[in-house]
Order: sequence, then C-alpha cells, then structure tokens
Amino acid sequence: MIMWPFSKKYSVRASGLLEDGTDCHSHLLWGVDDGIKTKEDSLACLHLMEEAGVKVQWITPHIMEDVPNKEDSLRERFDVLKADYLAEESPSGRKVEVHLGAEYMMDNLFSERLEQAPLLTTYEKDTVLVETSTVFPPLNMDGTLERIKSKGYYPMLAHPERYLYMKESDYRNLYHKGIQLQLNLPSLNGAYGEEEKERAEWLLERGMYYCYGTDTHRVGQLKNTLDMKVLSSKILDALLSLKR
Ligand SMILES: [Fe+2]
Repeated sequence: MIMWPFSKKYSVRASGLLEDGTDCHSHLLWGVDDGIKTKEDSLACLHLMEEAGVKVQWITPHIMEDVPNKEDSLRERFDVLKADYLAEESPSGRKVEVHLGAEYMMDNLFSERLEQAPLLTTYEKDTVLVETSTVFPPLNMDGTLERIKSKGYYPMLAHPERYLYMKESDYRNLYHKGIQLQLNLPSLNGAYGEEEKERAEWLLERGMYYCYGTDTHRVGQLKNTLDMKVLSSKILDALLSLKR
C-alpha cells in the first residue's frame, strides 16, 4: 500500500486514481441532456480523460420524463462521437475506450421503459444506473429497485450522497440490499455543497460505495474534478480500494 503523507491533500490527477481505471458516469454526449453542449467539448473532455489515464469511459445521458431520450437515437449519436473520436489524433497519444450507457431517473417513464426493455446498461454486465430527485424520494423506490432485479438487471444508484432526503438508515438499507452505490468524485470537492461532501465522506469511510465516477457535465467542471487538491490520505486510501 502506498503511504500518503498524512497532512497533504491530493488531486484526482496527481493521485493516479483514474490511471488505467474506469469512469462509470458522465454526460459527454453533446446536446442530449444538461451535459456537454457541443461535439468539440465532448472531444475536449475525452482528451482530458486520456491525460488523466482513464482506460474506460462510460457516457451515461439522462433518460427521464423531462428528458425523454430514446435509446436508439442516443446510440446513433454516440456512434458519431465514437467514430469522430477514434478518427482524430489524440494529443496524449492514447485513446480511452468509450461505451454508451444511461442514467435513468426512477420515474413513470422508467417504469414504462423497464417493461419494454432492453435498457442501456452501464459499467458492468446488466447493471442499470438509476437516480432520484435530490429533494424527494421517488414513489415506491424499494419496489422499483426490486422490479429492476426481477428483470435480470443489477441496479446501481448514482450519487446517493446528493439525496438529502435520505437518512443514515436509508443508506444502510440500500447497502444491505445489495444496491451498488456510485460516488460522484465532484462531491468530494464540495461541487454540490458542504452537506453532500460530508455525506460522501461518511459513505466512503464506511466502505459503502461500490465505485466512483466524474458525472462530468462541463469541461471546466471536469478540470476542477481532476485538479482540485482536496483528497486527504484517508479518503484517497478509501477511493483506491474501490479502483478496478
Ligand atoms: Fe449524471
């Protein structure tokens, strides 16, 4: 195990956290949700991921009632991005492996799509990345998570630290039910607020996260995620133990 000096703070980039690793959550497909707006910015983000050493990049556009993306049209646009990305020369001399997944809001549209299947899966075989409102719990969340499992998928809950309606007991219940919890790295630099940061550290210190992602929406946000020196040695050790 690497011994990190106790008093120093590290950045994601300097710690090598993403080196040869996977970013399982991002909004890098331009113009389909509240994420990246232009193809140039999509490519700029992929270049930043290359520089940080990312090996596998999951691109996970929102699918929800307010943003009712269809899986087929996302796939068409993703294929364009992937072809353009692979065709150009990378400044880093490396390429990341890009995959299309999705981040499904657990709303009525999701219930319909789940019945119609197949869904876009993310990260590992048959894993479905899901989210909720940050303010209110969805109707019958437990039932929806069980239905996902009954369809043969594994639910992964995006950024649980952002769900301020959740109590410690909710996190423990989800964890003990085998729901995979995904940390947003920007939570650790306070990008969403102090409360979200504290919740992220609480979950991380208890070993309740399954994996982490950048949830990138903007080039500048990604630069902050990579370069802000906010990770203590303790947090960094916990993060490195999740690395795959
Ligand atoms: Fe997201």
